[in-house]
Amino acid sequence: MTQITIKQVENAFVPAREISDPEKFSGRETYVKDAYLALIADGSNIAIVGNRGIGKSSLARQIINISQGDNRLLDKLGIYSDEKLDYLSIYYACGNSITNTQELLERLLTTRECFLEWIYEIPTATKELDKLNGNLNIGIASVGGDVSSERTTTSTIQKHSIETIFHNVISDLLKAKVAKNGVLIVIDEFDQIKDISGFASFLKSLATNTPGLKFCIVGVAQDIQNLMKEHESSDRLFAGSVINLPVMGKTELRQIIITGENSINNLITFSESAKDKIIDLSQGHPYIVHLIGKQAFRTAYFDGKYEELDENYVENILKAIAEKEADPVLEGRYKKAVASSQAREIVLKALANYNGTDNEIFTTEVYKKAIEKDVDNPSQYVGHLVTNDYGSEVIKVRDKYYRFKDSLFQTYVKARPSIY
Ligand SMILES: Nc1ncnc2c1ncn2[C@@H]1O[C@H](COP(=O)(O)OP(=O)(O)O)[C@@H](O)[C@H]1O
Ligand SMILES: [Mg+2]
Repeated sequence: MTQITIKQVENAFVPAREISDPEKFSGRETYVKDAYLALIADGSNIAIVGNRGIGKSSLARQIINISQGDNRLLDKLGIYSDEKLDYLSIYYACGNSITNTQELLERLLTTRECFLEWIYEIPTATKELDKLNGNLNIGIASVGGDVSSERTTTSTIQKHSIETIFHNVISDLLKAKVAKNGVLIVIDEFDQIKDISGFASFLKSLATNTPGLKFCIVGVAQDIQNLMKEHESSDRLFAGSVINLPVMGKTELRQIIITGENSINNLITFSESAKDKIIDLSQGHPYIVHLIGKQAFRTAYFDGKYEELDENYVENILKAIAEKEADPVLEGRYKKAVASSQAREIVLKALANYNGTDNEIFTTEVYKKAIEKDVDNPSQYVGHLVTNDYGSEVIKVRDKYYRFKDSLFQTYVKARPSIY
């Protein structure tokens, strides 16, 4: 038997990274199929919406693989295909640095991993890009006396030209036939862009003038209108190709655990009931499965515990995840919501544990549970939890009904052992 390395153990589960390798991508057959059909349909763009930690970026990575002729996932899922696609595909994750549509277009053109290197291959496109550089230089050079007014003028010049330049560069790439099927631009974390006005209408004009260009936009949202923040036109631009990614099914989640175990030749494994427990704790969020899996494998490996890990082991891992702040953001949000009050923690957990339809929480029931645990006046704590001071994690839907803003956080609250 070959020796398993620490590196393999550390990478059996990857909570911090999306799944690029089709062999490690679990389930999602319907959505992969929808995405594939949208890739081969002329003139359709793709949108992936859904909650945090649900698997949007991973699906986007798979779309890129398929668009570049890698049909392994289609074959694995038994989705029929009769050709290998050939797109020039680029991926850009917005993070929180993009302010508006113009800045987004500029980044796509000037980032090395995006279009930059392709543009340098094509003289006409290089010339177009030089125009952009000209503008940028003017922008810097003219910042002199009256800084603010100069900035506004230059940014208006840029506003017009960046769209034209982008348009021309794409046309040049398409004309040069850089790839048989055209150009695919995947924009991840689209919801992070502060002001996306003008994007939908720009997309519309591109759709008419540059067939062969496809966008795939990805972000945290309930639907496409919510993601595009523009109601008209977005419907038709994404007609039939909006993928609203739901929570994952139990079999799909189990497969993630098995894939993790197999990647280290089953050196460490979970018992059946431990697997069930992880699946139950994750509430359909693959992120939580990876978070628990990684912490469990790491701990077991360093403790030299190579037999099956059981439910108790998983229970202890949850404590370690909280103590070591394995996810500092979720843990930080938990601490902010609870702050120094045991009563508020009890109410927060009672809210998270309520099983309602549409994720709605009927507070009358929650108050009963909290009072049983000796919380006086539980409604005041719900009042706190909707305010900014405590992270506004909970939203009032209507009288007596509330819900969590983010189902991933709700899942974390449910799983995390109490502080008090
Ligand atoms: N189909 C899948 N199979 C296995 N792991 C997945 C799958 N989808 C997502 N994951 C894992 O779940 C976590 C969250 O996925 P990610 O794609 O980053 O979600 P999102 O972009 O929606 O926040 C990551 O650890 C990722 O590796
Ligand atoms: Mg993502």
